[in-house]
Order: sequence, then C-alpha cells, then structure tokens
Amino acid sequence: MDSGEGMRDREVFLEEVLRSAGRIVKRGFENRTSASWAMKGPQDYLTEVDAASERHIRETILARYPGDSVFGEEDGGEIGARCWVVDPIDGTANFARGLPHFCISIGYVVDRRPVLGGIYNPITEEIYLAREGHGATLNGKALSVSAAHDAQSATVEMGWSTRVPQSEYLSVMTALLDRGFNVRRCGSGALALAQVADGRSDAYVELHMNSWDCVAGLLLVAEAGGAVCPYLSAGDLRTGGRILASAPGIAEVLSVDSGTALIDAPRQALRA
Ligand code: IPD
Ligand code: CA
Repeated sequence: MDSGEGMRDREVFLEEVLRSAGRIVKRGFENRTSASWAMKGPQDYLTEVDAASERHIRETILARYPGDSVFGEEDGGEIGARCWVVDPIDGTANFARGLPHFCISIGYVVDRRPVLGGIYNPITEEIYLAREGHGATLNGKALSVSAAHDAQSATVEMGWSTRVPQSEYLSVMTALLDRGFNVRRCGSGALALAQVADGRSDAYVELHMNSWDCVAGLLLVAEAGGAVCPYLSAGDLRTGGRILASAPGIAEVLSVDSGTALIDAPRQALRA
C-alpha cells in the first residue's frame, strides 16, 4: 500500500490526466458532426472521441505507473491489485446529440478498495476529486451532501439502461414517485453521483451500473458524508451491480424503495 504521500502524488496525477483527457473530449465535442457517432447496441452510443480519450488515459497512466492496471469501458483490460477504472466519456448519448452534460470519470482501486476518484466535465470546467479519508472537493472546495430528510422536497436521479428489464425499472420508479420524490434522469450516472456529493441532488439510484460509471462517484459521495451501497461486495469491477448513493436523511427509505442495501457508516461504505 502506498504511503499517504504516494497517494497524494497519484491524486495530483489523476487531476492532470482528467484535464488532458478533457481537452481531447472538449475538442471532439466542438468539432463533432452527425456522422461522428455509431451505435454499439440499442440506446448505446459510441463516438471516436470515446476511443481517443480512453487511449490517451490508458497510455498516460501506464507510462507513469507501469505496475498498475487499467480497466476501461471501451477496451476493457486487466484488473490487477492496483487498478484505474476509466470511463472516457460518461453521458455519451448527451455528447453525441450536443448536450454538454457529460464527463470523464476515473477511479483508483487498491486491493478492491476505492481510494481515489475524479470526475471532470470539460465544458463547465467542474472537477471533482476524492481521496479515501480526506474528503471530496469541487474545484478545490470541500463538499458535503445535502441535509434532505423528507421525500416531498427531495430530488432523486434514477439511471436507466437496457441492461435491466423495463418492469423492474418501472416498479422502482413507481415506488419513488409514490413516496413523493421528484425523479429525474439527465443521462450521465457519473455526473449524477458527483451532484449528490455536492448537494445539488439528494440521491442516485440505478438498478445496474458498470464499475467505470460509478467507482469514482461513489467515493465522492462517501467522502462528502453520504450513505452508499457496498458496491464492491454487491458486484465486482467486471460485472457491475445495483447502486444507491444518498444524503443520510433519506437513505433508509430509498434503500427500501429501491431494494438496495446500504452500509451504515458513510466513510466505511466502500470497504465491503
Ligand atoms: C451510461 C450513463 C447513464 C447510465 C448508464 C450508463 P455511457 O453510460 O451513465 O446515465 O444510466 O447506466 O451506461 O453509456 O453514457 O458511458
Ligand atoms: Ca458510462
């Protein structure tokens, strides 16, 4: 395990790699055309910029830390004891259709414990960083989750994909609406988790999420004082799993409504 200083160096490096990938993604967004995207499957978009961003991130990480492994959305990869988990663009459908709500998300996991997380939207220039035990920041300012305690005034984002049967999705959505929550969906699960950490949203629920979409965001929420699911015991980095990340005051009811277990102590949440 790295010393605190070693991990601080890696956090500085994480910020650099997010910003350099952000330049590629921003340029790609500004220059995109309707021919710049293709479909990987139903409602699953792919652009050339996803591939370019992931290639850049992978090469930069392995040049600096050749003993680490990189596991990414587009090219997969090995999952070693020290693994960088990379989503080169989260919110690809928004990116392809010209909506500036997308980000790059990178988590760093050591022996199955998430220790660093970073999320960057290169259009708004918002950069979120978290280090295990050291809190979470947005553009350098410390974050805390919202004080929400009542469904009637709370907003939950619920992610959707074709990976989960529609009936399951609709029954959880119905339970949330019946409880009185406002439910929204903005198309980037990673940014949705970042917005729980910064208090602009009160919780995020998704019935299946891949690790590259959520490892960084779950650490952000836990480090901002939120309650999160035991992700690495519920699913692993390769298969993914069910996600809940919430302001503590509404976490219990959301756990019931979404059928997702929580870990009690927020800062212990990811150490399954
Ligand atoms: C998707 C987005 C979406 C979430 C899906 C993800 P992509 O990632 O985060 O909000 O609901 O589970 O697959 O395809 O934009 O990288
Ligand atoms: Ca994604």
